[in-house]
Amino acid sequence: MHFRSTLALVALALPVCAQDRKQIELGRYLVESIGQCATCHTPKNDKGELDKSKWLKGAILDIQPLGSAPPKWHKTSPDLTPSGKLWTKWGDGAILRYLQTGLNPGGKPADPPMPMYKYSNEHAEAVLAYLKTLK
Ligand code: HEC
Repeated sequence: MHFRSTLALVALALPVCAQDRKQIELGRYLVESIGQCATCHTPKNDKGELDKSKWLKGAILDIQPLGSAPPKWHKTSPDLTPSGKLWTKWGDGAILRYLQTGLNPGGKPADPPMPMYKYSNEHAEAVLAYLKTLK
C-alpha cells in the first residue's frame, strides 16, 4: 500500500520528459559554465564562496573598475529566479527576448557590468527553461 502510493507520488513528481531535461541541462551548462552568471548574480557567504542556498537570487557586487567606475555602473545585480521582482515585472516573453537580443523591454541594453549576451533561439530557450527550475 505504502509502496504503491510512493510510486504514484514519484510518477506525479516526474512530469518533466527527457527532452525537457536535455534542454534544462543545456541551459544549466550555458548559465553555470559559459555565462558565469552566478559570479555576479549569486551572493557570497562569509567564507567568500557562492551561497548555493541563494543561487542566482541577486547580489551586491564585489567588483568595480580601478579608478572611477563608468556612469550607470551597478553595485547590485537582480534576482534571476522566477519568484524574483524582475521576472514578475517582465514575464517569460520579455526575459526570452532579452536573452535573444540583449535588449530589455525598453529596447536598451542593461547597464554595466552586465555583459551583453545574444543567444540563439535554442540557447535562449534553454537558459529560460533552466532559470524556470530555480526557486
Ligand atoms: C559581471 C557581472 C555579471 C554577469 C557575469 C552577469 N550579470 Fe546579469 N546583471 C549584472 C548587473 C550588474 C545587472 C543590473 C544591470 C541593470 O539593471 O541595468 C544585471 C542584470 C541582468 C538582467 C536584467 C537586465 C535589465 O536590463 O534589467 C538579466 C536578465 C541578467 N542580468 C541575466 C544574466 C544572465 C542570464 C547571465 C549569465 C548568462 C548574467 N546576467 C551574467 C551583472 C552580471
